[in-house]
Amino acid sequence: MSLIVILTGAGISAESGVDTFRDSGGIWSRYDFRKVATPEGFAANPTLVHQFYNDRREQLSLVEPNAAHHALARLEREYRGSVVVITQNIDNLHERAGTKNLIHMHGELCKALCVRCKKRFEWEGPLSAFDNCPNCGHSGCLRPDVVWFGEMPYHMDIIEEMLIRADMFVSIGTSGSVYPAAMFVEVASGNGARTVELNLECSEVSELFDERIKGRATEIVPPFVDALLAGELNG
Ligand code: NAD
Ligand code: APR
Ligand code: ZN
Repeated sequence: MSLIVILTGAGISAESGVDTFRDSGGIWSRYDFRKVATPEGFAANPTLVHQFYNDRREQLSLVEPNAAHHALARLEREYRGSVVVITQNIDNLHERAGTKNLIHMHGELCKALCVRCKKRFEWEGPLSAFDNCPNCGHSGCLRPDVVWFGEMPYHMDIIEEMLIRADMFVSIGTSGSVYPAAMFVEVASGNGARTVELNLECSEVSELFDERIKGRATEIVPPFVDALLAGELNG
């Protein structure tokens, strides 16, 4: 049974209206990531960090999955083998499009984590230091369930196993700027997978892929999925 492993980044959600990080006007051109996306930043000013993610969570309620998200959900439903999506994104657009086999390696915007009892909770609305943990009842101990710079991503054991078993590794809409995700292509190709990158432009790791397809995700992902389902790419 062949396995297709798909890594997605902010670029797959860009056409839904979710800002990317490193494109012109991206998030890191407007915010200092050290202040809003590190444990040190959160310790120094939790109110600023909660507001950063509350703004993102609110934005998320105004956007919809796009044709690229829907194409990946169709691939999972119709492909004769197995498909798993590993996303760096914390938005919920893959699940809202119907993808089931999904790993959020950088966490989820719509979840909160209690640093005291380590429980996780669905969290759709604003989060603040004054909210009490629904489990242990303490206040001031809830944080966004998002992996910050310097922290290790979630589910790396499962991810590593997927990359070793993959027959095809596909990367969609990621700049290849952040590790460990940026080295997934080397792990997969080192274990015999065919590798394809779909992106608006070259990424930092483009030359490591067997094949590159350039364009906007909503334009290139649906026909790519059609070709996979038609057996034209023997993924
Ligand atoms: P992040 O929360 O996604 O995580 C930063 C990542 O950088 C970590 O997972 C870590 O793996 C990696 N990293 C950086 N330096 C590392 C190191 N030295 N060693 C190991 N790993 C290292 O990123 P963020 O910076 O907090 O971004 C803000 C949030 O906004 C993110 O969660 C991001 O996903 C989110 N966002 C989401 C979307 C979307 O969901 N479409 C779009 C834009 C922004
Ligand atoms: N279609 C396809 N690709 C696109 C589109 C689009 N419409 N728009 C942008 N892209 C591509 C850009 O060319 C770029 O390669 O998406 C990528 C976005 O790169 P980044 O902004 O760096 O986002 P990402 O790769 O997801 O960042 C990785 O860095 O800050 C951390 O954890 C954060 O998960 C994020 C990680
Ligand atoms: Zn708790």
